[in-house]
Amino acid sequence: MRNNDVRPRKGRLRRAITGLTTSLRAQLFAWVVLTLIGAICINLYLSFRSANATSDLVTDHTLLASARVIAEAVHVDANGTVQVDIPPAALEMFDTGYGDRVYYQVVTAWGNLVAGYPDLPQPKKPQVGEDTAFRADPVRVMMLNHPIVGLGEESTISVTVAVTHNSQYAMRSRLWLSDFTKQLVLVLLAGLVTIIGLQRGLTPVLRLRDAVRERGRQRLDPLEPDMVQSELRPLVHALNDHMERVQNQMAAQRRFVSNAAHQLRTPLALISTQASVAARENDNAKRDEALTALRSSTRQVTRLASQLLTLSRAEPGSRRPRSDTIDLVATARQVLENLAEEALRHNIDLGLEADDTPVNVEGDGTMLREMLVNLVDNALRYTPANGRVTVGVRHDDGEAMLWVEDNGPGIPEAERGQVFERFYRIIGTEPEGSGLGLAIVREVVDGAGGTVALGDAAGGGLLVTVRLPAV
Ligand SMILES: Nc1ncnc2c1ncn2[C@@H]1O[C@H](COP(=O)(O)OP(=O)(O)OP(=O)(O)O)[C@@H](O)[C@H]1O
Ligand SMILES: [Mg+2]
Repeated sequence: MRNNDVRPRKGRLRRAITGLTTSLRAQLFAWVVLTLIGAICINLYLSFRSANATSDLVTDHTLLASARVIAEAVHVDANGTVQVDIPPAALEMFDTGYGDRVYYQVVTAWGNLVAGYPDLPQPKKPQVGEDTAFRADPVRVMMLNHPIVGLGEESTISVTVAVTHNSQYAMRSRLWLSDFTKQLVLVLLAGLVTIIGLQRGLTPVLRLRDAVRERGRQRLDPLEPDMVQSELRPLVHALNDHMERVQNQMAAQRRFVSNAAHQLRTPLALISTQASVAARENDNAKRDEALTALRSSTRQVTRLASQLLTLSRAEPGSRRPRSDTIDLVATARQVLENLAEEALRHNIDLGLEADDTPVNVEGDGTMLREMLVNLVDNALRYTPANGRVTVGVRHDDGEAMLWVEDNGPGIPEAERGQVFERFYRIIGTEPEGSGLGLAIVREVVDGAGGTVALGDAAGGGLLVTVRLPAV
């Protein structure tokens, strides 16, 4: 029971995560937000460095000024002793309300302490501020060498002033915060504008999605390419092309169904009439005549139904694609054997021209056999009695070539393109047929990756040549 409670939630979570990782909007937003976070981190670091440098500089200036004021106050008294009265201003300049402690030291060039703390640490260079520690207090320290009059030539004293960091750190924080706030506002503003831009940029895409989604099954008119940005227009054009193809296909499908229904209706109506006539007829001879006609009509409908079925099987996607290796010579021999009786009935000389070596092709064996049956059936059907029909199979130019040749009336050049269309029959064609045979041939050959061409046979009839990739 518990598991049942948890599983859908997990599924939802996974769906939500998948939704986020595949969403263009989420991806763009993630990139913007990550960039902004990166920019803010860099900003934080740079503004800290800048504030630190400024506060160091200001403290150093104050330290130097203080050292100078103390140095100015150093004098040599009447006894030749170096004296200093530390001016209050020298120390008051550090009184900024942050409770800083100030330490100083004045020593002569020969090392005598004049005033201040004897153990105050000395910076390495004069007039350069340095961070150090004094009595466990972190301090900034500055030293100044100053000439002193009255103690012989080029005599100097050195004044060292150190101050705790309270005021310096307070200034650094203030500078950092104000700098950072300004930059943060700018970055956030830029981020906001980018996100608004993205949102606006994505709106046409979402509109396109809605336009496609809202369409019913039957609405296949083209979408307006101007509804999206120029970069996305090729997508709209591709969609429109696809819809046009679907529309054409649907129209062809409708035509086919209506043609098929029409083709079926005529012989079925005939069957009905012939059956009524046969039922009413008392004269045996006339009834036999009606029954013969009835049988012929039934055969016609049966033929049409079986051709329709074959055609639907030959259409791409209607069967699981099969790729058997088929020997066309063996297939042709088998087909000719099956149709030998039919040839005999019309006294047609039906022959095979092929070597004993197999001519292999890859494809659906059943469909390839249907193709050959239809070609030979046409040749037998449209060639007058005492004619000749030859089927040939051989390798040609690296391909498998199969041809069917007869010495019948042939097909006029003007109609050679049309005879492959469904239900197309040449006007005046006597024997009954459904007009689907060559359409089946073309579907099968297309499916097997080959070509089919109609030409003139040497004896004046039709020559059908099929070329398939050999294996
Ligand atoms: N060998 C041929 N000689 C002369 N005409 C032919 C030949 N083969 C086909 N035709 C012409 O091409 C037309 C189309 O042939 P197709 O095989 O597609 O249909 P069909 O033979 O009429 O009907 P079915 O679907 O029953 O085969 C035929 O009606 C016929 O007029
Ligand atoms: Mg035919």
